[in-house]
Amino acid sequence: MFDPHSPAPFVLGALPFGSLVDRATSYALLDRFREAGGRHLDTANNYVQWEEGATGDESESFLAEWFRDRPGARDEMVVATKIGARSDPSRRGGFPADMEGLSRPAIRTAIEGSLRRLGTERVDLLYAHVMDPVTPLDETVAALAELVDEGRVGALGCSNHDLQTLSAAHRIAGDLGVPGYSAVQQRFTYLRPAPGTDFGVQQVADPELLGYLGDRPGCTALGYSPLLSGAYARRDRMPAAYRSADSEARLRAVDQVASEHGVSAVQVVLAWMLEREQPVVPVLGVSRIEQLDECLAAAALRLDAEQLTMLDRAGVALADA
Ligand SMILES: NC(=O)c1ccc[n+]([C@@H]2O[C@H](COP(=O)([O-])OP(=O)(O)OC[C@H]3O[C@@H](n4cnc5c(N)ncnc54)[C@H](OP(=O)(O)O)[C@@H]3O)[C@@H](O)[C@H]2O)c1
Repeated sequence: MFDPHSPAPFVLGALPFGSLVDRATSYALLDRFREAGGRHLDTANNYVQWEEGATGDESESFLAEWFRDRPGARDEMVVATKIGARSDPSRRGGFPADMEGLSRPAIRTAIEGSLRRLGTERVDLLYAHVMDPVTPLDETVAALAELVDEGRVGALGCSNHDLQTLSAAHRIAGDLGVPGYSAVQQRFTYLRPAPGTDFGVQQVADPELLGYLGDRPGCTALGYSPLLSGAYARRDRMPAAYRSADSEARLRAVDQVASEHGVSAVQVVLAWMLEREQPVVPVLGVSRIEQLDECLAAAALRLDAEQLTMLDRAGVALADA
């Protein structure tokens, strides 16, 4: 499902397609990704529900249109979507209190909606988008596995899960003898957020979680928001959680490697994610063709052992440890 030797070993995030990014540009980005050998698309059943006038149908429905207009594209692509975080109009309290959650009925309603919007009979990878603090985990694990059994889902993943919940879910799946999560998508980039940062429902792929995944070779780690909304190229965009002495030291390391190769900081960060001892597959967010081309070119960048070590060791937190 994830081929590190592919010419485009990235996942393309479809969050803004057909809404925040206009339709023509979204088509062009998907076309270019496909031409370059990209084979993995990421969406969710609630993108971009939080925008004024949006419903949450936008991203999945847009992908369906592109598939209809591009014969063969659906079968070429791994289509990943996520359920559990869509707002349920029957619930009150606003996000995240009104999320549909991951009970068995919610999961069955959600997959029907995603398959209908995507215009497909099967989702290749289905993520539990966020943790559900209310539903018993064994109910969620069993209900998701049923979808695999029914052939409506190819594989299961989870996103924004803490290590305790992830490992408990794996244990339950093992005990039940059903498919468990084989992909884990968390917030991840080269810079490290200030310890204890609260990202709301979002969860970071921290060293403990990555260490756990390192002992499970069948489980792929993916990182979303790898470019921090463009902050490696436009440092004035750096989110507050990443403004620190640690980040400054790590940015100096990135800039040094970038100048050694004559490439951009963006490309060094993406190459580092792919080439680090334990790879984390970047889930790209792009709004222009030039950005996508720059990101795709990072797949050909080879960092040597010295550069990887320097990048890994850079930073105040490690130096102080
Ligand atoms: N599982 C989850 O909970 C979750 C959460 C968030 C996202 N995601 C997934 O991850 C994908 C990416 O997320 P994200 O948009 O937050 O990613 P991001 O990497 O933090 O930011 C993407 C933005 O970076 C800028 N950028 C991209 N390439 C660039 C380049 N070559 N040079 C300079 N700037 C560049 C663009 O900003 P401008 O458009 O402003 O130019 C682009 O929109 C989403 O589409 C979605 O599929 C998943």
